Amino acid sequence: TDLAHIRNFSIVAHIDHGKSTLADRLIQSTNTVAERDMKAQLLDSMDIERERGITIKANTVRIDYTADNGEAYVLNLIDTPGHVDFAYEVSRSMRAVEGSLLVVDSTQGVEAQTLANVYQAIDAGHEIVPVLNKIDLPAADCDRVAEQIEDVIGIDASNAIRVSAKTGIGIHETLEAIVKHLPAPKGDATAPLKAMLVDSWYDSYLGVVVLVRIMDGTLKKGDRIKMMQNSSIHLIDRIGVFRPAMQPVESLGPGEIGFITAQIKQVRDTRVGDTITHEKKGTDTPLPGFKPSQPVVFCGLFPVDSAEFEDLRDAIEKLALNDASFSYEMETSAALGFGFRCGFLGLLHLEVIRDRIEREYNIELITTAPSVIYHVYMRDGSMIELHNPADMPDLSIVDHLEEPRIKATILVPDEYLGDVLKLCQDRRGIQEDLTYAGARAMVVYDLPLNEVVFDFYDRLKSVTKGYASFDYQLMGYRQDHLVKMQILVNDEPVDALSTMVHRDRADLRGRAMVEKLKDLIPRHMFKIPIQAAIGGKVIARETLAALRKDVTAKCYGGDMSRKRKLLDKQKAGKKKMRQFGKVDIPQEAFISALKMD
Ligand code: GTP
Repeated sequence: TDLAHIRNFSIVAHIDHGKSTLADRLIQSTNTVAERDMKAQLLDSMDIERERGITIKANTVRIDYTADNGEAYVLNLIDTPGHVDFAYEVSRSMRAVEGSLLVVDSTQGVEAQTLANVYQAIDAGHEIVPVLNKIDLPAADCDRVAEQIEDVIGIDASNAIRVSAKTGIGIHETLEAIVKHLPAPKGDATAPLKAMLVDSWYDSYLGVVVLVRIMDGTLKKGDRIKMMQNSSIHLIDRIGVFRPAMQPVESLGPGEIGFITAQIKQVRDTRVGDTITHEKKGTDTPLPGFKPSQPVVFCGLFPVDSAEFEDLRDAIEKLALNDASFSYEMETSAALGFGFRCGFLGLLHLEVIRDRIEREYNIELITTAPSVIYHVYMRDGSMIELHNPADMPDLSIVDHLEEPRIKATILVPDEYLGDVLKLCQDRRGIQEDLTYAGARAMVVYDLPLNEVVFDFYDRLKSVTKGYASFDYQLMGYRQDHLVKMQILVNDEPVDALSTMVHRDRADLRGRAMVEKLKDLIPRHMFKIPIQAAIGGKVIARETLAALRKDVTAKCYGGDMSRKRKLLDKQKAGKKKMRQFGKVDIPQEAFISALKMD
C-alpha cells in the first residue's frame, strides 16, 4: 500500500469509556471479521483481561476501508493498555502511530486517565479526533463534555464525533474522520531498514511474536535482522498482519504495522521500543528514546503448601518468559520457607500475575506486603537498593534512606474534595496544585510511592464512592526518616510482616497492625503476645487470649450437618495457614494486617 492510503491510530480513553466496544464496532462495520467469529471485546485476548475488562497487552488490527471518496485505505489500530502500570508501553505504542481517537464517555466527562493518555498522545505528536461516546444514554451531555475537553485538555472539540459504540451511531463518521483528519505516515522504502519493536509476546505454537512498525525500508520473510539494543541476529521465518487473526504477507513497507517471528526463544530477548534493522546494510541510528521498563513494586510470593515450591518456580519461569517487565529471584524467609521475591510495574501488574499463578497453575499463594525500592546510603558512602525490608542493614552502618516519590493527579467531584485532601495528607502528601474543571476539582500531589502501593487506590475509591479518578508518574528519590518495623508473634519476629514506615507514623501503623493481627490470628491453647517493634524497642502490643472451649461444643447434640460444615470450614482455613513457631497464622493476615482504614 502506498503511504497516502495508510492511517495508523490508537484509541485513548479512561477505563470503561468504551474503547474496546468502539474498536469492536470499527472492526465489525468494515467486515474485517466474519459475523460468526465476532465475539465481544475481540481485542482483549487473555481470559483474565476479558473477565476484568482491562486491556493489558497492546493488540493490533488491520482494517480495510473504502472511504466515501471511493478510495481504498488500510487503517491500522493499535490498542494500548489503559492502566498507569503500563504507562511505558502506552508511550511506545503511541510512537508507532500518527493519530488518536480520544474517546470520552458523554455521560461522564474527562477523567484522570483520559488526561494522562491524551497528554502522551500529544507528546507523541498525534493528530487527535475527539469522540463523544454513549450518546444513546439519556444522561449524555455532549455540549458540556465537548466544552470540558476544550477547557481541560486544550484541543478543539467543536466537531467532536457523536457516537454510540453500542448501537453503531456515528461509526461511519468516525471512519471518515480517521481518513480525513489523521495524517498519512511518512517513510522511505529505499532507506536502510528501521522498524520499531512495539510489543512482543509468547505464543505456544509460534514462539515469540514481535509486533513491528516499519519506519523506513522493507522487511521480508528470510531477511536477517538485528535488534539494535543487544545486536542479536535473527532470521525471519514468518511475516504478516493481524486482521485480527494472523494473515501472512510478502513484505512490510514504510508506515505498515505487522508481526514477525524469528525463532526467538523468550520475550526477554526482545525489548519494547528497540529498533530492528537488517544485519547487512542496516541503519546506524536507532529510533530515539529507548528505555527498558523497570519494576517498581516488589513482594514475596510463597506457596501455602511448601511442597508446591517447584510448581511455583515452574509457573513463575513460564510467566516471565512472556513478560520482560516481571522480575524474580529466589527468596527464603524464616517464617514462610522458600519462595520468590518478584518485581512488578505496579499493583495491577502484581495482581494479574498473582491471579494467573493461582488460577492457571492452581497454586495457593501467600503474598507478602508490597514494597518499593529504597536507596540506602551507607556510612562508607556506598548505596544499596533495598527491595525487601527483611534485608535492611544494621542501622549502625546506615547513614540515611531515600524513597521514591510520585506525582499523582486526582480528579474528583467537589463534594468529595475534602476527603481526598485528607487522605493525601494522611499519606504524607504535599499538595502541588488545585484547579477546577467544571464541577470537578483536579488536585496534584507529590506523594511517597510506598504510601500508594498498598491500598491508596481502594481508599480513594471508597472515600469518593467511586467518583475519583487517579493517575501517577514516578518523579525520583527523596530523603526521609524511614525505619524498619518488625512484628513479633509469640516473641518471634515474622520477617514476612516487616515493613518500612515513616518514623512519625510508625506508632500509629504499629498499633493498627497488632490490633488487626489480634483479630486475624485464631486463638490457640495458650496466650499469644503480638508486638510491633523498631530496632529492639516495642512500640505496640496486644495479647491474644488462650482458647477455652472446643469450638464444636456449641453444636453438641445439635444438627450434624452444621457441625460438619464447621469442621470443614476449619479444615479449609487450616490449609491456608502457616506455622510460625507454635502459632498458626492465616494467609489473609499478611495482606489484611497492612491495610489502614
Ligand atoms: P477497558 O478496556 O476496561 O479500558 O474499558 P473500555 O474503555 O474498553 O470500555 P468498554 O468498551 O469495555 O466499555 C465499558 C462499558 O460501557 C461496557 O459495559 C460497554 O458495554 C459500555 N458501552 C460502551 N460503549 C457504549 C455506548 O455507546 N453506549 C452504552 N450505553 N454503553 C456503552
